[in-house]
Amino acid sequence: MEAKIILNCKTYEQATGEKALALAGICQEVADESGAEIIMCPQYADIHRISSELDIPVYGQHIDSIGFGSNTGHVLPESVKDAGAVGCLINHSERRLKLADIEANIKKLRELGMVSVVCTNNINVSRSAAALNPDYVAVEPPELIGSGISVSQAQPEIITGSVAAVKEVNPQVKVLTGAGITTGVDVSKAIELGTQGVLLASGVTKAEDPKAVLKDLVSNI
Ligand code: G3P
Repeated sequence: MEAKIILNCKTYEQATGEKALALAGICQEVADESGAEIIMCPQYADIHRISSELDIPVYGQHIDSIGFGSNTGHVLPESVKDAGAVGCLINHSERRLKLADIEANIKKLRELGMVSVVCTNNINVSRSAAALNPDYVAVEPPELIGSGISVSQAQPEIITGSVAAVKEVNPQVKVLTGAGITTGVDVSKAIELGTQGVLLASGVTKAEDPKAVLKDLVSNI
């Protein structure tokens, strides 16, 4: 089964700088051994090093809807692409955006040939995001983020509801889910509920043995 596992590094210490590179190496080993598609979303400063030293696909965590010019401190989409990212999260719960910026970011990523993943927090927002035509909508109930309680076990209805709403609005858009995902069972349940994969962070970044967790995560796909 084709499913995506997207590992968001956020700003976890265990996934910053040298440690991000080491973790990306582990992701690549597990991806190579299992044939699973594992994607990493490091911090901006780590994108170039990971993408130039390894083959694992890298996505950004955020972009700003600005162009070249005088925009000090902003994240230029072209620069994220140039650093080696092939996709980007948009509107993560920890980096919410205005609707107009979400739409602009989706268009910009498409123009740059990059994959867009719009994060949403409920079924209605998933429906609205699908209307903007991203490649993926990733539904994540904020209260379960970082909780270790899996969305696919605790709130299956938000997943099935989002899958149905997205399909109704725009059948081209694929659905991912995240929040509290830590095991292969969480992943296979998410897939059974109609998603094309998961977005996760703490289950791997904070694990004592990230490789063992990653191997388990891909064990049923
Ligand atoms: O971007 C993934 C995320 O928000 C889920 O976080 O720590 O619950 O896997 P976590």
